[in-house]
Amino acid sequence: MSPLIQRTITFVKDQLQGAEAGHDWFHIERVWKLSKKIAQSENCNLEVVELSALLHDIADSKFHDGDENLALKISRDFLENQNVSPEIIEQTLFIIKNISFKNRGEVRGDLPIELKIVQDADRLDAIGAIGIARTFNFGGFKNNLMYHPEIPPKLNMSKEEYKKNQGTTINHFYEKLLLLKDLMNTRKGKDLAEERHQFMLGFLEEFYKEWNVE
Ligand code: ADP
Ligand code: NI
Repeated sequence: MSPLIQRTITFVKDQLQGAEAGHDWFHIERVWKLSKKIAQSENCNLEVVELSALLHDIADSKFHDGDENLALKISRDFLENQNVSPEIIEQTLFIIKNISFKNRGEVRGDLPIELKIVQDADRLDAIGAIGIARTFNFGGFKNNLMYHPEIPPKLNMSKEEYKKNQGTTINHFYEKLLLLKDLMNTRKGKDLAEERHQFMLGFLEEFYKEWNVE
């Protein structure tokens, strides 16, 4: 491992001390490993992939009063201090800025392959067994309801139905997790997403069955 990546790991671990369990160092480590795995089948700049995977959640705006620029500033300061070339810094910051599900669709034209890779890795960690665990952890952190039985959520809910279900952890599956499989960018990402998606469908089926004491 290069000294730069080693120093980035140390920096990120330190920054994320005390982070919510779904957005902590172990999330970063999984995304970093998944990114490297996906990168094996793609022609890309591996240094940019690794740096952006490691820095992508350094200061998530959800936990910093919606300040989206903080992560960029912290990352830029760090990379400049490490004497990383301006070109690599710009590529890395572009990825950190545009990786998020919330901001999807804001970039025009073709995405750089390095962004596609890290975005797939981040999305893979949002689905499957880990995705389920992270989502319930986040919901608990926010003291949200797990589920509300009045209107069972489903894909393509009407606005009214959606409003009623908003805020429950189960609803997050329908507003995000179940949509990710079809948003994967890379071949490898799509393959890995398929199994995780099926696992979530099985989980939901079992959840409703147990909830309804069938
Ligand atoms: P992005 O940064 O890609 O827009 P988020 O940071 O909002 O995505 O989401 C990352 C993860 O945090 C989700 O995959 C989920 O596990 C959890 N999460 C975010 N919002 C919610 C929510 N409203 N309820 C439950 N979990 C959530
Ligand atoms: Ni992330």
